Amino acid sequence: MAMTPMPSIVLDCDPGHDDAFALIVAAKFTNLLGVTTVAGNAPLELTTRNARIILDLCGSSAPLHSGANGPLVQPPVFADYVHGKSGMDGAVLPEPSRPADSTQAIDFIIDTVRAHDDVWLVPTGPLTNISLALTRAPDLARRIKGISLMGGGRVGNRTPTAEFNIWLDPEAAATVFMSGVPITMAGLHLTHEFQASPERIVMVEHSHATLGPLLAGLLRFFSGTYVNRHFGFVGAAMHDVCSVLALTHPWLFTTSQKWVGVDLHGNHTRGMTVIDDRQLVDRPIANTTMLETIDADAGFAAIVEAVRACP
Ligand code: BDR
Ligand code: CA
Repeated sequence: MAMTPMPSIVLDCDPGHDDAFALIVAAKFTNLLGVTTVAGNAPLELTTRNARIILDLCGSSAPLHSGANGPLVQPPVFADYVHGKSGMDGAVLPEPSRPADSTQAIDFIIDTVRAHDDVWLVPTGPLTNISLALTRAPDLARRIKGISLMGGGRVGNRTPTAEFNIWLDPEAAATVFMSGVPITMAGLHLTHEFQASPERIVMVEHSHATLGPLLAGLLRFFSGTYVNRHFGFVGAAMHDVCSVLALTHPWLFTTSQKWVGVDLHGNHTRGMTVIDDRQLVDRPIANTTMLETIDADAGFAAIVEAVRACP
């Protein structure tokens, strides 16, 4: 398979088990310019701590900056029912080597995009930091190469229509989808096809003498909550990894071009990504490359390869 050049990215995350694996894959397959954290799966102190631990484990020297400690408008809500109280339950994790490099994630995003050509932002949590950066620095919209995000989809999880990342900060998400920046979207209809089955967890476990068992512990916890909470799941959906793989392994996906908006006011649809699936000739111009399907076995092989590359 012809390799694509390594994309330069800033990963904006709320680890979170699947964010952790997105970080590991990004450390191996991208030019990781930096990591920023946001409140989401857990409070900001914990998502920042978790991101630092994962960067340590994969030997990455990428800078880490913490950002928003809650959504733009509504109060924070955490996903401990999926990720546990720490945001990354399931393994005894080492203490982080040091704290975040700063609390100024928004400035870091702005400065990084201005300093480099062709930066991709890869948000795998609520879009609060990205929205704040786009609002504070309107020139970013024409400088960013694209935003490859995990959020939304043709089905919800937090509500029947809304996915957690978008549901938690719909105002931020609306800014991002309306920004004019090309968006690549990993929605739930895609990420639910990418599950950490028991067999795949064993592959991770055997891929690295020390890290393998630790990461397998994380995945078993994460998969446990998924399998218990859903009909028909064999493991946790590795949502956030898809947003990195879309840039590093684009051949694993089929895509379509869609217009997507975010509903802010519906009784049943606040936080829903409204995807224009009509076949009409006269429909809004697409703002989103929609990831539709994934080669899940090959995607998991990329995860295993990234774990194997850790020190
Ligand atoms: C998203 O919410 C979080 O629980 C995951 O990390 C993922 O980003 C899925 O709805
Ligand atoms: Ca996440």
